[in-house]
Amino acid sequence: MVNLGDIFPNFTADTTVGEIRFHDWLGDSWGVLFSHPADFTPVCTTELARVVQLHSEFTKRDVKVIALSCDPVETHKKWLNDIKVFASCSTEGFPYPIIADEDRKLATLLQMIDPEEKDADGIALTARAVFVVDPKKKMRLSFLYPATTGRNFDEILRVIDSLQLTDKHRVATPVDWKPQEHVMVQPSVSDEEVKTLFPLLTIVALPSGKNYIRKTPHP
Ligand code: BEZ
Repeated sequence: MVNLGDIFPNFTADTTVGEIRFHDWLGDSWGVLFSHPADFTPVCTTELARVVQLHSEFTKRDVKVIALSCDPVETHKKWLNDIKVFASCSTEGFPYPIIADEDRKLATLLQMIDPEEKDADGIALTARAVFVVDPKKKMRLSFLYPATTGRNFDEILRVIDSLQLTDKHRVATPVDWKPQEHVMVQPSVSDEEVKTLFPLLTIVALPSGKNYIRKTPHP
C-alpha cells in the first residue's frame, strides 16, 4: 500500500515508448499515472482521448502523464489511432506513453484491482486509479474509481493546481476552488504571523465567534 507522502515505487515497465524506469522517466517533473481496465473499451477510450486533449495543460504545469492498461504493448499501439480520432487530434505521434501490465504486476503492487470486473478468462481487471507524484517522487494524491465510472481529468488538473500552490504558500484551497479564486489561510498560521504573511486577509464572522475562516486572495 502506498500512502500519501510515501516515495512512489520505482517500478520498471514495458510501455508504448519502450521500457521505462519510473523515477528516471519522471526526471524532475510531476507525474500522473492513471490506470485502465482494458484496451478497446468505450469508457477507457473517452478518458485517454480527454488526456490527449488536455496534454498541453499537464505540460504547462510541468506534469508528465502515463497511462496503464493490462493489455500488451502491441494491442496498445493498435488502439492509439482510435483514441486520437476520438479526441479529434490530428498531430503526429501520441503525446504520452501507455504501460502494458498484462500480468497485473503493477495493478497488484499499487492495489488497483477491481474484483467486480473480470476479463474473458475470469481474471480481475484493473480499476481506474490515479496517482499524482511530485518531483521528489512522493505520492501526493491517489484515488480509485470502479471500472464502470469514467474520471474527470479537469478535476485532476485542479488538484495539481492546488498542490503546486499550497507547496509554495501556507494556504489551502476550499470546495470547488479554481485558480485565481480566494484561498484559505492554513490553521497552523498563528494570528501574529497572519498579518504579515497575508495583509489582504478577511475573516468570516461565524456564530461560534471563532476566527477560523481566514480568506485571502490567490497569492
Ligand atoms: C470501459 O472502458 O468502457 C469498461 C471497461 C471495463 C469494464 C467496464 C467498462
